Amino acid sequence: MKIFIDTANVSEIKEAYDMGIVSGVTTNPSLVAKENVDFHDRLREITSFVKGSVSAEVISTEADGMVEEGKKLADIAPNITVKVPMTGEGLKAVKEFKELGIKTNVTLVFSANQALLAARAGASYVSPFLGRLDDIGQNGLDLIAQIAEIFGLHGIETEIIAASIRHPMHVTDAALGGAHIATMPFKVVQQMLKHPLTDAGIERFLADWENAQKG
Ligand code: E4P
Repeated sequence: MKIFIDTANVSEIKEAYDMGIVSGVTTNPSLVAKENVDFHDRLREITSFVKGSVSAEVISTEADGMVEEGKKLADIAPNITVKVPMTGEGLKAVKEFKELGIKTNVTLVFSANQALLAARAGASYVSPFLGRLDDIGQNGLDLIAQIAEIFGLHGIETEIIAASIRHPMHVTDAALGGAHIATMPFKVVQQMLKHPLTDAGIERFLADWENAQKG
C-alpha cells in the first residue's frame, strides 16, 4: 500500500517527501482554505517537487462546471488528478475527464455501490472515507474490504485510496483490508514513526557508547 499525504501545507509535504515515503498528495477545499493562499499557485508549488499524483478538488456541482474547472487544474501539471464528488453530475464529469485523458479521484465515497459506479464511470481512484464513517458508528474498514473484494473479483483497475484516516491503526487496517493507497494527515505520519522502545533503545545505545569512551 502506498502512502499519500492529505494536506495543502507545503512544509508538511516537504518534510514527509524528504523521508521518501510519499507517493502522492491529496487536498480538499477545507485543507486549501486553511492555508489562505491562491489555490492554483499552491498546486504549482506542490507539483514543482512532488512527482506522484496530486489531487485537486473542483467546487462546481454541475458536470459542465466541473469539467471546465478540472481542465484548468489539469493544465497546471501533468500529475494533477482532478478530485470530483460522488454525485451523478460528478460521474458525468469523470466520464468526460476519462475521454480527455485526465485522471480523476472520486471523493466522499461511503458505500461499495458508490465505489462501483465511480469505477465504471472511469475513475482512476476512489476515496472511501474511513474516519467519517466511524464518526457515525459505521465500520469504515469493512467498506474498504468490500470495495477491495469487488474490484478484485471483477478485475477493476481503479485504485482505492483509504481517506479520512485519523490514527495509525486505520493505516494498518486499510493496508490489511486491501487499499492500494492510504492518504493521511502529517500528524498520523509522525505518530506512525514513533515507538517508545525505539526511543528507549536509542537512548540506551548512546549511553553505552558514551560509557565505553570513558574507559
Ligand atoms: C481525502 O482525500 C480527504 O481530503 C480527507 O481524507 C478527508 O478527511 P477528514 O474526514 O479528516 O476531513
